[in-house]
Amino acid sequence: MIRLEHLTKTYAKSAIKAVEDLSLEIQDGEIFGFLGPNGAGKTTTIKMLTGALEPDAGSVEIGGIDMAASPLEAKARFGFVGDDPELFNKLRAAEYLNFVADIYRVSDRERQERITSLARRFKIADVLSSSIGSFSRGMKQKLCVIASLLHDPEAWILDEPMVGLDPQAAFDLKELMRERALAGGLVLFSTHVMEVAEKLCDRIAIIDRGRLRFVGSLAELRARKSELGGGRDGESLESLFLELVDADGSDPGAAR
Ligand SMILES: Nc1ncnc2c1ncn2[C@@H]1O[C@H](COP(=O)(O)OP(=O)(O)O)[C@@H](O)[C@H]1O
Ligand SMILES: [Mg+2]
Repeated sequence: MIRLEHLTKTYAKSAIKAVEDLSLEIQDGEIFGFLGPNGAGKTTTIKMLTGALEPDAGSVEIGGIDMAASPLEAKARFGFVGDDPELFNKLRAAEYLNFVADIYRVSDRERQERITSLARRFKIADVLSSSIGSFSRGMKQKLCVIASLLHDPEAWILDEPMVGLDPQAAFDLKELMRERALAGGLVLFSTHVMEVAEKLCDRIAIIDRGRLRFVGSLAELRARKSELGGGRDGESLESLFLELVDADGSDPGAAR
């Protein structure tokens, strides 16, 4: 389980709060989508959640472990795929994977099994001895996905994971997300693409200008929309989403 309480962050030299008083609970076994337009605060939230950025206020708990109190223990609980796959270009892919497996203290046998099966699955098995610098963005991203799962974490956190993947790789990734959630793992990913969330997520959060606008299932989002009037059967998540993050921003108290 992941629990975020009252997370707030303002970047130095910035007048606006990138994330403001954000509280969320995500359960094991669910695929949770974190949605919002560019600049909404998704990456900032994920950086605080993964311990890469210290919140100005609020707390993060992963699998019952408090990030501020026990950062190493909390970080061992999740696998993370960032929004920028630029990494150790001088290393060969296999060297990078072994480096990550060393950090997480994955046994030789387990790392070999996982590297082999994931590399085969994402079709980069034949380039593992090539240097990462020669990889396309999509290949680098697949490598990051594989690296994030070497320690078989209970939570899997991905920031805009579909960007830059070809359709087959995006399909494979979504399938893997489903498998992990079905096996009881927690999957949290951000996206600005509504269609992806609509097909994949058990629940979503919509964030805009640093504040939560909605948390719940797609069915709950539709129900809420029809309460407000104007919702109709078959209306896409996208149109509901666009209304929630409508330009006037007059309803910041609407999150629940
Ligand atoms: N390193 C940074 N320094 C200053 N402001 C930043 C930095 N990173 C993000 N921001 C600002 O914080 C807000 C949220 O950004 P971000 O979390 O990256 O949004 P998202 O991932 O939803 O696109 C935006 O207004 C963005 O301009
Ligand atoms: Mg982002």
